[in-house]
Amino acid sequence: MHVVLPNDANPLGFMLGGSVMHLIDMAGAIASHRHTRSRVVTVSVDGVEFLHPVRVGDLLILRSRVTCAFRTSLEVEVEAVSEEALTGTRRLTSRAFLTFVAIDANGRPTPIPPLQVEAPADVRRAEAARARRVQRLETRGRLASNDFSL
Ligand SMILES: CC(C)(COP(=O)(O)OP(=O)(O)OC[C@H]1O[C@@H](n2cnc3c(N)ncnc32)[C@H](O)[C@@H]1OP(=O)(O)O)[C@@H](O)C(=O)NCCC(=O)NCCS
Repeated sequence: MHVVLPNDANPLGFMLGGSVMHLIDMAGAIASHRHTRSRVVTVSVDGVEFLHPVRVGDLLILRSRVTCAFRTSLEVEVEAVSEEALTGTRRLTSRAFLTFVAIDANGRPTPIPPLQVEAPADVRRAEAARARRVQRLETRGRLASNDFSL
């Protein structure tokens, strides 16, 4: 849970998208650490949308869960929900799917434990994660092929 302070916000008093993304990344990393008990790095973040503005003084609640574990990587779903301080009204602000990779002391990908999924909803989530992974890996490296001068 995060209290939105002026430092997180633009001049209009709305939380910066980058500040929300930072917290989403942290929440995803925490879920990844808990599952792998390894060092992890973020390797990709699927499109993040900002559905509602979050104002200074609101609370931002981050919920993260591992949806599927692969060989060295895992997908984490993160939801950011805003809560108005005075009314308690909650709204889903963002949902994102992030992929983390566990790395060893030399920074190389290292195997992770499987995720035990039994409940039907968890099985469905894992299947959806596998489908997203296929799409993600199809476009992997797209950036590297662009002709930007460094
Ligand atoms: C993450 C990193 C260690 C992967 O190294 P790599 O040489 O590409 O490793 P591999 O090709 O063996 O891939 C390792 C795993 O990452 C997955 N992966 C790699 N690129 C991916 C991408 N763009 N999206 C999703 N998964 C990806 C692979 O599918 C593989 O998963 P699996 O073992 O579960 O099948 C390396 O790219 C890295 O260090 N990146 C920088 C990470 C970082 O600093 N993040 C902070 C933001 S800058």
